[in-house]
Amino acid sequence: MTTSEAELLATRADFPTLSKGVHLISHSLGAAPRQARQYVNQYMDEWENDSIGAWASWLPAVRGLGDVVGGVLGVDPGTVAILPNVSTAQSFVASCFTFGETSGRFKGRTKIVYDDVNFSTVHYVWQEQARRGANIHIVKSKDGIHSPIDALCAAIDETTLIVPISHVLFRSSGMIDAKRVIDRAHEVGALVLLDCYQSAGTVPLDLKAWDCDIACGGSVKWACGGPGAAYLYVRPDLLEHLKPMSTGWFAHAEPFAFEMGPMRYAADVWRMIGGTMAVPAVYAARAGWETIARLGVEAIRAKSLRQTRLLRELVDQRGFTLNSPREDAVRGGTLCFDFDGAEAVSRTLSQRKFFHDYRPQCGLRLGPHFYTTDEELYRFMAELDAVRKSASTVTHATTAAY
Ligand SMILES: Cc1ncc(COP(=O)(O)O)c(C=O)c1O
Repeated sequence: MTTSEAELLATRADFPTLSKGVHLISHSLGAAPRQARQYVNQYMDEWENDSIGAWASWLPAVRGLGDVVGGVLGVDPGTVAILPNVSTAQSFVASCFTFGETSGRFKGRTKIVYDDVNFSTVHYVWQEQARRGANIHIVKSKDGIHSPIDALCAAIDETTLIVPISHVLFRSSGMIDAKRVIDRAHEVGALVLLDCYQSAGTVPLDLKAWDCDIACGGSVKWACGGPGAAYLYVRPDLLEHLKPMSTGWFAHAEPFAFEMGPMRYAADVWRMIGGTMAVPAVYAARAGWETIARLGVEAIRAKSLRQTRLLRELVDQRGFTLNSPREDAVRGGTLCFDFDGAEAVSRTLSQRKFFHDYRPQCGLRLGPHFYTTDEELYRFMAELDAVRKSASTVTHATTAAY
């Protein structure tokens, strides 16, 4: 049974952050669940009380979080590893390739294809692989709002190794048809690495049905899980071909054998996990992911689309420039818009605890989530109108929101 909007809003009491201001920043930092503090306390109790025995709780907790995340991604239990951040996850994947292989699954493949609306960190990781022989091919978006899917698919050829792209774009919330890119990549034997950071938790995902090769993302945004607990999914049949050079003892088949011989990778996705995990972050992240899984992303998406539509109307009424897709089907959970003087207005709104952010070539980004009321959206826009009218408020400097 789908969760009703009233049930979604009933969770507000479990998110103390929501009483501190108008929280429209879940595309950047999800509100903190009350339960997260309890889980972190549990971690501390285990450390204090169980000494070294705490690992008997901690290691299953890492696997357990991977399974909760996996449920939201639409993949099987045991197929998701937890890593500190997306940059590390992408680097670990990149380290599986030598870009000059003369035999095996990746023979003759050196081309990396992605678009120029990718998240910067992903670009940095792959661009640097050029030093190791990768051939980087970046496809330009026509408008900076939509992913250039036709050109992207056309660029994927028999020499393509991997296509590391965002499912939902951070700057515009434009959403790509991931299945179409995966199908195209598979036609020529290439892999897709889908960054789901801006979709998981607000857009339903079915990565197993889409036959996605590899996926990653983090807990900081829509998952309401805080930093340090990113995830990496690998389709199980691919694992035997992936032997990361960036590795560590927990990626070994028998970490506690402390073998000094050749690396023997774990058979499952833990071959991608490297060294000791950020256990406190895993505990902090659990409550948010559990909430998303319990509420169901279908219900979250239905409310999100209704509210980004409402915001779009409020933006249109004011004659602002919309920098997100107008159509529901290709828009993620955020609405982006710009107007003259937007950066200064944004600073004042943040000072007044109307939490949102501002990005160059984008403008203001507002991300309503399952706990957001319509009244908060109206209140935000009314405050924005008031700030624009008052010239005196726009001169303060403040730190940009993360
Ligand atoms: C699509 C996307 N990927 C990655 C990141 C961040 O990567 P990392 O976890 O390495 O900080 C963000 C935002 O912070 C993002 O929006």
